[in-house]
Amino acid sequence: MSLKDSINKDLLPSHIAIIMDGNGRWAKEKGEDRLFGHFHGVESVRANVEGCAELGVQYLTLYAFSTENWDRPEYEVKGLMELLVDTIRKEVPTLNKNNIKLHVIGDISMLPGNAQNELAEAINETSANTGLNLIMALSYSSKWEIQQALKQIVTEAADGRLTPGDVTQETFKNYLATKNFPDPELMIRTSGEHRISNFLLYQLAYAELYFTDVRWPDFRKENLYEAIIDFQNRERRFGKTSDQVQAQ
Ligand code: IPE
Ligand code: IPE
Ligand code: MG
Repeated sequence: MSLKDSINKDLLPSHIAIIMDGNGRWAKEKGEDRLFGHFHGVESVRANVEGCAELGVQYLTLYAFSTENWDRPEYEVKGLMELLVDTIRKEVPTLNKNNIKLHVIGDISMLPGNAQNELAEAINETSANTGLNLIMALSYSSKWEIQQALKQIVTEAADGRLTPGDVTQETFKNYLATKNFPDPELMIRTSGEHRISNFLLYQLAYAELYFTDVRWPDFRKENLYEAIIDFQNRERRFGKTSDQVQAQ
């Protein structure tokens, strides 16, 4: 039986989040420039998006560029932004063909104007699609997200539109960039780093974490299937005992 066939369709994570890490090291190991790694990383994005869409995963969030990544060398940031604009432009027909709806979370105002325009167009052109929701985290960090949520809450409170009693876990969620999406059930990080790097800190509260040494440009469909199968073999207890969970 192939890996894909051994996935239990009834136990699919509805939301997978991925920290796509290791492009730079992958390139360096080949004696190439870091941008060569980012370029090949796009192939893995394609493969994983297609893999999730084929399986019927509902939400896929990809961490593509963090707030902290703005501090990288100028040529790398510039190269990544050009790759982003170019990729979005080229991928829209494929997204539409596969019924994929594009979303973006992050401080988009930091992106160059042409990237903002391409993104807005792609979001608009895929907005009627009803299959996989592909969420790109761009210029994103959790600390930025929580800060802007608090700013909105304080503003509304100062205007008298919000009282302390209005703030519940349900209403708080509405101030986050992820307000329209369920929390990820599975978080994958490639390339051997065992950290979260300012990614969805609040939303990953109960996610299953999966770490692999495979570098992002090498992480393809079979690797995704392995991660999902690993997820399916875990017992998610949400604070309860194993006996309680099994009795359910
Ligand atoms: C991930 O790969 C892509 C981005 C952060 C944009 P890296 O560029 O972080 O690759 P490494 O970690 O240096 O190998
Ligand atoms: C996290 O990777 C951000 C993205 C994958 C976009 P980094 O490579 O920037 O993370 P650190 O700096 O090693 O924690
Ligand atoms: Mg990295």
